[in-house]
Amino acid sequence: MKARIVTLPGDGVGPEVTAAAVAVLDAVAEHFGHEFSYEEHLIGGCAIDATGEPLPAASLEACKSADAVLLGAVGGPKWSDPHAPVRPEQGLLALRAALGVYANLRPLQVHPALAALSPLKNEKLKHVDVLFVRELTGGAYFGAKTRTTDTATDECKYTVAEVERVTRRAFELARGRRHKVTSVDKANVLETSRLWRSTVQRVAADYPDVKLEHQLVDSMAMLLLTQPSHYDVVVTENLFGDILTDEAAALAGSLGLLPSASLGEGKAGLYEPIHGSAPDIAGKGVANPVGAILSAAMLLRHSLGLEHEAVAIEAAVADVLERGPHTRDIGGQAGTDAVRDAVLVAFEVHAAASEAFFA
Ligand code: NAD
Ligand code: IPM
Ligand code: MN
Repeated sequence: MKARIVTLPGDGVGPEVTAAAVAVLDAVAEHFGHEFSYEEHLIGGCAIDATGEPLPAASLEACKSADAVLLGAVGGPKWSDPHAPVRPEQGLLALRAALGVYANLRPLQVHPALAALSPLKNEKLKHVDVLFVRELTGGAYFGAKTRTTDTATDECKYTVAEVERVTRRAFELARGRRHKVTSVDKANVLETSRLWRSTVQRVAADYPDVKLEHQLVDSMAMLLLTQPSHYDVVVTENLFGDILTDEAAALAGSLGLLPSASLGEGKAGLYEPIHGSAPDIAGKGVANPVGAILSAAMLLRHSLGLEHEAVAIEAAVADVLERGPHTRDIGGQAGTDAVRDAVLVAFEVHAAASEAFFA
């Protein structure tokens, strides 16, 4: 198949991990006979430096007409002055809003070879397989903001329609998994959470085969550590989802491991690792490319319908997590390129096996 992919490497380690993911996509195209064309554009701090804007019109237009968008990361100390008139992160938020990608899928699995890196006892990490569905285009991120010298506000707003569509997405996804949804809110305090809870409750009636439970976000932060294997699909609002998924990454062993897919009703999905620009390690060639590579696998699955190809990448990554080489964040000494190369070698083995099986 032919596909047009826009890449937005961004800032910090963004370009390093995106290059590794593109190398893996190239191997997929080569092995399975697809034609992927890439168009690279600016977003974030590098876009501010070049054009004054965090999401230049040319970048946005390219993304809107692409089959899929692969993003690295945005931000960094250079652009983090609290009084700066424009910020890299605004570019990412504007892109998510413009593409209408309201459902952010963040899968968490714990590879047994890395369980020792987690602060939790290995016993607790068996059978951990959670799919977070984070609402991505509403809530405090997008409400009105005000600032005077001594007061600031961020309005947190949700409509029933916004909650309903992401909830339906979560229930549909649960049907392909273990038929359980945990909805996380703060309904004991927040009005938006009470609207969230009643909407989720009503939508759940259309999915009698899926078990629903509600959990308050503060206790959820604790339960994620004490009983992670209890969860299947976890659906929550934008800010809670942001925080809980970085916490979840600690169970996997590193923030550098987790991928994401942001989906709406439109054509172009947005794919990015959940980590940021990692300024402390940027430019050293040591960033873990696994989150970005697994995001590329999600791109193949969700935007291009290439399931076998996605599975071959995931199997290759699992091999490398099992056998190494590993980057420093997961206890190894290897650089980004060495991990990429090991994934490419393992991919050839899995792709050949997949071809033989489906021939
Ligand atoms: P961060 O995710 O950049 O880094 C947190 C820690 O995790 C750091 O110690 C970093 O070295 C480590 N880490 C992250 N990714 C890694 C990788 N691939 N391999 C190895 N280690 C990795 O979070 P932060 O430091 O809080 O934020 C830095 C900047 O990134 C901020 O400007 C923030 O706004 C931005 N950010 C962007 C995104 C995005 O573009 N999607 C996501 C999160 C944060
Ligand atoms: C993420 C990031 C972003 C978010 C920032 C950079 C806007 O932390 O993708 O998780 O908060 O959504
Ligand atoms: Mn985040």
